[in-house]
Amino acid sequence: MDDMILVLDAGTTSTRAMLFGLDGKVERIAQAELTQHYPRPGWVEHDAGEIWDKTLACAREVAGEDAGRIACIGITNQRETVVAWDVHTHKPLARAIVWQDRRTADVCDRLRAAGEEPRVQRMTGLVLDPYFSATKMAWLIERDEAVRGAAQRGTLRLGTVESWLAFKLTAGASMTDASNASRTSLLPLGGNVFDQGLCDLFGVPKSALPQVVDTHGSLGEADDAWFARTIPITGMLGDQQAATVGQGCLAPGETKATYGTGAFILTNQGDTPPTSGNRLLGTVLTQRDGTRRYALEGSVFVAGSLVQYLRDTLGLIASAGETEALARSVPDNGGVVIVPALTGLGAPHWRPDARGIIAGLGFDTGRAHIARAALEAMAHQTRDLAGAFAADSCAWTGLRIDGGMAANDWMAQDIADLLDLPVTRPDFVETTALGAAMLAAVGCGLHDTLEQAAAAMIGPGRRFEPGMAGDVRAQRLRHWGAALAKV
Ligand code: G3P
Repeated sequence: MDDMILVLDAGTTSTRAMLFGLDGKVERIAQAELTQHYPRPGWVEHDAGEIWDKTLACAREVAGEDAGRIACIGITNQRETVVAWDVHTHKPLARAIVWQDRRTADVCDRLRAAGEEPRVQRMTGLVLDPYFSATKMAWLIERDEAVRGAAQRGTLRLGTVESWLAFKLTAGASMTDASNASRTSLLPLGGNVFDQGLCDLFGVPKSALPQVVDTHGSLGEADDAWFARTIPITGMLGDQQAATVGQGCLAPGETKATYGTGAFILTNQGDTPPTSGNRLLGTVLTQRDGTRRYALEGSVFVAGSLVQYLRDTLGLIASAGETEALARSVPDNGGVVIVPALTGLGAPHWRPDARGIIAGLGFDTGRAHIARAALEAMAHQTRDLAGAFAADSCAWTGLRIDGGMAANDWMAQDIADLLDLPVTRPDFVETTALGAAMLAAVGCGLHDTLEQAAAAMIGPGRRFEPGMAGDVRAQRLRHWGAALAKV
């Protein structure tokens, strides 16, 4: 009986495979770390071959003896990261340029100076920033000999990570789902195909791009070379959209925040393409039979990666989990504020040039204050976005949180306190993979609708009620504002 869903979750720091039952319970997980390449300041690269090899190895490990029971595959992925490969050799032509990479900041500046930002924003829902895929694709064609050669020969394929995985899994199908395509700056937010005018503006050959398809439905088939039988691929979407689905944010206004490498907050906007007057992003949430749901998004570039930096680069802590006890061990931050602009600032500031600061150090500052300030920065970044969402007439009434960092009870409470809103956290925090499983299940007819899948597959959670005194909150906000003004 085909009653299992295989999810491939290719994230930024690791790639994973999970086997889900129809009740949303995980049977097996396999995970592999991905090598991060930092060839120059501001540059971040991945080896696309490694992403495929490790994702496949994880998938085979969890499928194991049960490959015969897998009804469908759902793919979810780090978004915006660009892979260039050759359609004949099926091999990557260059290192993948990761979403965090800032090398095309000057291109964005030039386009902004030429007055292009309003048009790009109106058409795509995105601001001009090196975060998005188009300038990365153009950089590869201009600067990488192998990529340029393939473009000249007509054998170049450019895509985001899901399209690379789908190409490999299907042994040659060229597709990207609408949610990932909506992060390239090349897809009109309400359109179904990449736009020639936008491709010309950014210098990306449209012929190298994959076809835009639904996020769920019959998308393709994994070749029998991988699991000894073909398996339908019925779900494919960006990891933040997947987490939105996995959190059950299926009705307009429902909002989730995922604290992973970065922090990504999405509010469901129903079937109307969102526009923002406050530098938030309009993005595709899901698409079935061409019918879309949209989301408004605030993307924060540094969340868990700040804790990783404290651990691996500064050596201030031995493990990420230690931050919770450290934060509790002091009555307050001791005047320390961290603005974690380690790779520029994302929404709502969009300052690729910004650099992080640790402000307010004194001889009485200990590592507990710094750890606490690092966690507090998450609440502050979230609060900045809450303001932008409210100004876009999309005020939150509560926030559903997830991601690795959300396991930290102190941080969850601090977010509720600073937002002055209830925060809920599911007991099962792998919402990205769960969302991809829900989508794939609906795509292959195991559940009829996402709402039915949510009822069957999403489990209970814990609620954090706000409890911070108004004057404490006001002081925190003042200090944050002053530190932010310095970056
Ligand atoms: O937009 C980038 C985002 O998709 C990365 O997500 O979970 O790998 O930090 P994550």
